[in-house]
Amino acid sequence: MKKFVIKSILWVVGISIGYGLYQMGVRQWPRKLPTQPVALRSAVQDILTQKCAVCHDTERDYPLLSKIPLLGDLISENHRQATRHWKPFDRSYLGPSATEGQRIDAPTPLTVFTKLSHALSENLMPPREHLILCWGSWISPSEKQILNEWIKSQRGEWLSQWGITNGMEFPIQPIPTSIPHNEAKAALGEKLFYDKRLSSDGAMSCATCHDLQKGGDDAQRLSVGDGGQSTVVNTPTVLNAVFNIRQFWDGRAADLAEQAHQQLTSPDAMGVTNWTAVAERLASDASFKTNFLAVYPLGFTEKNICSAIAEYEKRLITPGSRFDQYLQGKKGVLSTEENKGYLTFRKFACASCHNGPSMGGQSFEYADLKDNYFKGRVLNACDKGLMNFSQVPRDDKSFKVPTLRNVEMSEPYFHDGSKTTLEDAVAAMLTYQVGKPYTDEDIHQITTFLKTLTGNLFGKPLQK
Ligand code: HEC
Ligand code: HEC
Ligand code: HEC
Repeated sequence: MKKFVIKSILWVVGISIGYGLYQMGVRQWPRKLPTQPVALRSAVQDILTQKCAVCHDTERDYPLLSKIPLLGDLISENHRQATRHWKPFDRSYLGPSATEGQRIDAPTPLTVFTKLSHALSENLMPPREHLILCWGSWISPSEKQILNEWIKSQRGEWLSQWGITNGMEFPIQPIPTSIPHNEAKAALGEKLFYDKRLSSDGAMSCATCHDLQKGGDDAQRLSVGDGGQSTVVNTPTVLNAVFNIRQFWDGRAADLAEQAHQQLTSPDAMGVTNWTAVAERLASDASFKTNFLAVYPLGFTEKNICSAIAEYEKRLITPGSRFDQYLQGKKGVLSTEENKGYLTFRKFACASCHNGPSMGGQSFEYADLKDNYFKGRVLNACDKGLMNFSQVPRDDKSFKVPTLRNVEMSEPYFHDGSKTTLEDAVAAMLTYQVGKPYTDEDIHQITTFLKTLTGNLFGKPLQK
């Protein structure tokens, strides 16, 4: 019996040392910062696969281990929580298992790496309990350096699509003064954005629900569309929508042109069923027709109309907020209270999800991450969020993170428009997304900070 116990202990110790050495990546220990991008990428892949995938790869399952009582439950709960919080393997460039390429629920690198950088700097991961069993998954200083280098390069690559070349060390970047777009198409799109002839009953344009002076939405809980139909979710702002990973709360449009098409044809928005009639109405304006044909030789087709509107939306960005000036080095521009608010915003790591130039729009996150957001109410179809579109059960109740730019102007808040004040929205975030104890003073400070995010549209300050 004694022999058996000693033997078992030796086995366990042996396996633990062996597995630990594998996780340390023993052949390349200690790891050095690779000089080539390809080598850097493969070093990062090694680290994440050996040390983090066991909990964070959504495609992993544990057919044998999960059958063991207690341990099995612990493993599956850990896996579930880990992948609800961070999904780095859903993009093909990081993981070995995401074979079909990028998945719909995959966050952009901005969110993947902001969360990673937070976890590294706070030594949050791997979890301590896990390190006791799997000591080899500890992240060494040289590995941190490798990951930090990768974070910078990947953020930089993603931000370059908008011509942003600074600030990749940080979670939030100032909004650039303009982003690359086609001027002639945007000018046509501007006209269409305000053109009521686009709606089936001639009663509304995009601007009816997206009033640019009101912060890009209409300040209603739900909006009223074509023929009096109410929308099922709160109207989000069009300002800075160009930075979004996909469009709509549930991400059902891949980009702005697809979004415009769905909105034009949706019965609870503009209700277009007959495109020929729309084209005829638009063509009755002779000078507009001439201008349009000069840019789009095929004329008022569905595709061209949506393309022009999407191009115009690239102009709807709001640079120059006081917070952006602060990020650009003008330190005195925030008051003491606002500075405190920013520290509190950082203390609660709000930028884990509200990051990038628009402070949002980079990932789908669970509305009930830390607590039951939906408690005490009947769920409706739109509460399924991304799952409505992707049909993947894992996506249930996850929503595209909204932008925090100009947020003081976009009440009411959340996909259901259920919070009418910014204070209430911040309190709800602290409860449902952050899940740490907080005080009224924290809410007040964060709200004060959020008001510094109001920027300029076409060179003029937006005013509440
Ligand atoms: C034993 C399982 C396990 C391992 C291994 C693990 N994690 Fe986690 N991870 C979790 C869990 C559970 C959470 C959710 C924690 C919570 O509830 O806040 C999480 C959350 C995270 C988050 C999100 C934090 C946030 O801001 O929401 C990041 C980033 C992260 N892990 C990175 C890593 C990295 C990097 C590694 C590898 C070095 C790693 N994890 C290894 C279980 C694990
Ligand atoms: C009846 C009101 C209404 C009209 C008219 C309307 N929208 Fe919207 N818009 C909404 C609602 C509601 C949503 C959110 C729908 C959802 O997420 O399911 C939305 C979403 C959007 C989004 C996505 C923003 C994001 O963060 O996901 C953009 C961009 C947008 N609309 C642009 C337009 C354009 C362009 C037009 C004109 C072609 C238009 N809208 C007409 C109500 C309206
Ligand atoms: C884990 C991700 C996550 C974190 C962390 C997070 N948020 Fe959010 N935030 C979201 C999501 C998702 C929504 C939309 C939820 C919905 O509509 O049901 C949202 C919505 C908001 C809104 C409403 C915006 C609008 O236009 O409707 C505000 C304001 C906000 N968050 C502020 C904060 C603040 C302040 C913090 C830190 C205390 C924070 N968030 C932390 C994911 C997050």
